[in-house]
Amino acid sequence: MVNIRSASTGDIALIKSILAQYILETELVEETIEQFIVAEVEGRVVGCACLDTARDMVELRSIAVLPAWKQKGIGRSMCEIMEQRAAAVAGKLYVRTTAKGFFGKMGFKALDNSQKPVLWQDCAKCDKLNICMQVPMVLELR
Ligand SMILES: CC(C)(COP(=O)(O)OP(=O)(O)OC[C@H]1O[C@@H](n2cnc3c(N)ncnc32)[C@H](O)[C@@H]1OP(=O)(O)O)[C@@H](O)C(=O)NCCC(=O)NCCS
Repeated sequence: MVNIRSASTGDIALIKSILAQYILETELVEETIEQFIVAEVEGRVVGCACLDTARDMVELRSIAVLPAWKQKGIGRSMCEIMEQRAAAVAGKLYVRTTAKGFFGKMGFKALDNSQKPVLWQDCAKCDKLNICMQVPMVLELR
């Protein structure tokens, strides 16, 4: 039985360890902890996701599920909760991801790579933009 709840500061270390397994960004977890949700199974945190609403676009970040708990619908459940939260404040939900197949199943459409530096200032400034494997995708919420 999976329970999905808002994260608290007590979850920071576990969230970081899950993200680190997939070499995902961990530096911003402390300052954005109130934007995270976690998925728990029998009281153990097995997944996390973050909804970044700080800028004029809403972005789903840092979604990850521990290897042993993948392919059981936990990623979908967290994505659907974030879609609902995003729909309350925006018409579109963006993601930059290497998990294109998963987000395709969630209804996201891939954007052209040329959109990355247009949509994201950090991409525009990034010296790895040309070799970056992250695909920009968007979900229409309304
Ligand atoms: C991406 C991720 C969060 C998906 O979580 P999950 O719990 O395994 O996903 P679910 O079980 O909810 O899968 C939902 C659907 O997507 C499919 N799916 C899951 N991962 C997929 C992938 N990598 N490629 C294609 N389809 C995928 C599932 O088969 C399922 O399809 P179905 O509904 O037809 O059965 C998980 O694989 C993960 O942690 N990946 C590593 C971290 C990562 O890359 N995160 C993205 C950062 S933006």
